[in-house]
Amino acid sequence: MDGNALSAAPAGKSRKLHILTWGCQMNEYDSARMADLLAPLGYGICPSPDEADLVILNTCHIREKAAEKVFSELGRLHARQKERAGAKALIAVAGCVAQAEGAEIRARMPFVDVVVGPQAYHRLPEMITRATREKGGVVDTSFPAESKFDFLPDEHAPRGVSAFLPVQEGCDKFCTFCVVPYTRGAEASRPVAKIMEEARRLLQNGAREITLLGQNVNAWHGEGPDGKGWSLGRLIREMAGLDGLLRLRYTTSHPRDMDADLIAAHRDVPQLAPFVHLPVQSGSGRILRAMNRGHTAADYLGIIERLRKARPDIAFSSDFIVGFPGETARDFEDTLALARAVNYAQAYSFKYSARPGTPAAGMKDQVPDDVRSARLRELQSLLSEQQRAFNRSFVGKTLPVLFDRAGRQAGQVLGRSPFMQAVVASSDNPPDFMADVIITSATQNSLQGDLCASLS
Ligand code: SAH
Ligand code: SF4
Ligand code: F3S
Repeated sequence: MDGNALSAAPAGKSRKLHILTWGCQMNEYDSARMADLLAPLGYGICPSPDEADLVILNTCHIREKAAEKVFSELGRLHARQKERAGAKALIAVAGCVAQAEGAEIRARMPFVDVVVGPQAYHRLPEMITRATREKGGVVDTSFPAESKFDFLPDEHAPRGVSAFLPVQEGCDKFCTFCVVPYTRGAEASRPVAKIMEEARRLLQNGAREITLLGQNVNAWHGEGPDGKGWSLGRLIREMAGLDGLLRLRYTTSHPRDMDADLIAAHRDVPQLAPFVHLPVQSGSGRILRAMNRGHTAADYLGIIERLRKARPDIAFSSDFIVGFPGETARDFEDTLALARAVNYAQAYSFKYSARPGTPAAGMKDQVPDDVRSARLRELQSLLSEQQRAFNRSFVGKTLPVLFDRAGRQAGQVLGRSPFMQAVVASSDNPPDFMADVIITSATQNSLQGDLCASLS
């Protein structure tokens, strides 16, 4: 492979790209955009790393386990490369581990050709071209002054009926356990005009549902056409006017940024899904303070109540961390009590993982692993029971479902309810439609039902 051949895609000559993605939806979006960026160099997606000319690992640094997986995957790739006859594939590490570990990745694993952080990946084509010419690897973990969004190709490849649209990135909140402010950098909001432009393009390409993405999506305050900073509530009202948009979501929101305007949007905007992912982390005021969350358990419950008043059928999901340093049995009881009070439709819970460079990693009273595991089991059994009960409550009822993929068995389609439940139904129609579904049975993780009339 030489650099020239890469810099201009010779007609008909294709190169194979395999991307492995870990972490949040922002990483999923970034992976898709990296593929778009590399298409002009002749790269098309292939399903296996073994046949690829370029493998990108788009990584997550949030917990120790997530970060470790990257190194074991790199080791595996390297071993397979050695067995492989012919040209070696280029290997690139992107995402939050790349940002956090930077040049150390190359020091530990010199066969890695490119290391690129989440704010610099618009430079990937140039970096890949350079890596093919120069030995020694190419590393870019800067936070460039320019916004990568201004350098991503305009034409989105068709992405199906459900699309992500990043509006905000980065975080200034500095929860004491979290690496995101370091890996994604300072909070930045995209302007309204750019967001609306991208939304229109997604809709032209067949999207029916758009999920607004941000590490703190409701801290978004992008510049409007009037030159003023808009709120997320206002953006949602503006977007709801777009032709063809059947459903709108946003994630991940922070309790501190849940303002009156956004709550009112849940009352006023029918396309806005009645489902909010609102991480709380803990139900103990003492622990929330030590986490630097900036709100109490009562503040959180107050927000839930206001949202329920605005939209009575609204349902919630959350993130929890158990075993944060100093968490006592009593603190943990407060977390269980909060989960009971909210009654979640779904939730994620994690054992606290000490992350290098974060204030909590140096706190005394780290909770032993067996205690963390026992608490996690107890919380998860409560949350699973809530999820099962929530799902069962829909049996016999009708839900509008956006079907976006084929089911596991022939003649089945798979979609999402307004509450993010996975719904399976029998249909010979190709997925990509919205339909009413009468729910016939429910498990913890999915609903089954029969199609009524197709809505679109
Ligand atoms: N911005 C979002 C969450 C981003 S990270 C928010 O503010 O809520 C996703 C989730 O990972 C967090 O909500 C938290 O529950 C979990 N998490 C983050 N750091 C963690 C750590 N050090 N150990 C365990 N879980 C962690
Ligand atoms: Fe991490 Fe807290 Fe920022 Fe969420 S708000 S990304 S948990 S620092
Ligand atoms: Fe992971 Fe980075 Fe997302 S650490 S959760 S990939 S912002």
